[in-house]
Amino acid sequence: MPLSVVILAAGQGKRMQSDLPKVMQPLAGRPLLAHVIACARELDPDGIHVVYGHGGERVREAFAGAPVQWVLQAEQHGTGHALMQAAPGIPDDHTVLVLYGDVPLNRPETLRSLLAAAGERQLAVLSVRLAEPTGYGRVLRDNAGNVYRIVEQKDATRKELAVDEVNTGLMAAPASALKGWLGRLSNDNAQGEYYLTDVVALAVRDGFAVEAVIAPTVAEVLGVNDKLQLAQLETEHRQLVAEAMMRAGVTLVDPARIDVRGRIEHGRDVFIDANVLFEGEVKLGDRVRIGPNVVVRNCEIGADTVIHPNCVLEQSVIGKDCSIGPFARMRPNNRLADGVHIGNWVELKNSQVGEGSKANHLTYLGDTTVGSKVNVGAGTVTCNYDGANKHRTLIGDGAFIGSGAMLVAPVTIGERATIGAGSTITKDAAAGKLTIARSRQLTVEGWQRPVKKPPTA
Ligand code: UD1
Ligand code: CA
Repeated sequence: MPLSVVILAAGQGKRMQSDLPKVMQPLAGRPLLAHVIACARELDPDGIHVVYGHGGERVREAFAGAPVQWVLQAEQHGTGHALMQAAPGIPDDHTVLVLYGDVPLNRPETLRSLLAAAGERQLAVLSVRLAEPTGYGRVLRDNAGNVYRIVEQKDATRKELAVDEVNTGLMAAPASALKGWLGRLSNDNAQGEYYLTDVVALAVRDGFAVEAVIAPTVAEVLGVNDKLQLAQLETEHRQLVAEAMMRAGVTLVDPARIDVRGRIEHGRDVFIDANVLFEGEVKLGDRVRIGPNVVVRNCEIGADTVIHPNCVLEQSVIGKDCSIGPFARMRPNNRLADGVHIGNWVELKNSQVGEGSKANHLTYLGDTTVGSKVNVGAGTVTCNYDGANKHRTLIGDGAFIGSGAMLVAPVTIGERATIGAGSTITKDAAAGKLTIARSRQLTVEGWQRPVKKPPTA
């Protein structure tokens, strides 16, 4: 059957104590709702409907372009009421899968088994066993183990509260039957809401089979209500990612001290030290080693390259066999060939560095093209900004830039040129020659140091 996913995301999330709508709160660097939409998309549905309410326009703007249909639930009268808003947009011959915008760690495998348990005359709900079930709806089964009802915490008897199988809220059902049940919901309950959970008893009354599929892990069905739970899920997410990486052969010195806010691809025998943060899309080649306290954002790092401690690397492509840091900073848009050395307190921006070139100490290379086998001495600065425009510096293959050089762009340093230390280079420097641009050193003969005057009486 074709599939429509409905994501309930209209709840206010008061307990977040935040101006940011709940489903916009970030988990692993992305809004909660982004995780849910991404998971829904893996099921390849024919439609995704997001029921929104609180912070509505902000949420819609943040997801402009997402392949979803937005359904406004202007006032929140419960989960059943939320689904009623989406129902008219769903064709009768679809299966409906209900997800929550604040349950971000769903696993597609589990949702597939939930869908497999739904059918023409079958309703499937996703449950989980919790040692501490307080607050959740309880899944009630008869003596034969058949589910006959879900009861909310606030409506439950003492005996029902002792049940440890709880409703996760996620369910799957044929659209036409579901629409019928939604039309029969009442709000005659402790909270005066239209409970989606009441469709279970209605389905049983209609002779439907109701199956509660038990989620294999708790984390995948945990909801987020406050910042504590947000941090708990961040930890769960971190652990899941770290485990997957270690299973794939990455050595993590401490799986609790790596964060992946985005996607990481890696080769074999990668080594990652403590406190490393990856953001966006990152690719690591075979045997890459990353030292402690490093941030890598949208970078590709070639095989056998070593990133020493305390580097911040952004949107750069780094070749094989390079050595970066410690304390190097790459601002966006650099491309380093193989065997490049970038040392401590070196900053790069919008620069290309050719094979085997080195800038090992205290240097700024901005808007610069460096050839191969170039040596950039300590304290070299490309003066790329005139206060209005940025200009490029070109350094030819085999050039040697003495320490403390100021290269005032636009300027070209020829191949195999040598620049004397301390030079301020404002004109192109000829290939293969020594260029020095500094005042000559002189020694003043007969000069005497001033002496302190005697105090006047
Ligand atoms: C719901 C279930 C409960 C289950 C629990 C799991 C019902 C009646 N109860 O309880 O059995 O154990 O989830 O967390 O369904 N939402 C809307 N519009 C509304 C109300 C809610 O979009 O009018 C959305 C929320 O944004 C959230 C989801 O529905 O994503 C669940 O809402 P929430 O208030 O957390 O449900 P509970 O009452 O806790
Ligand atoms: Ca909840």
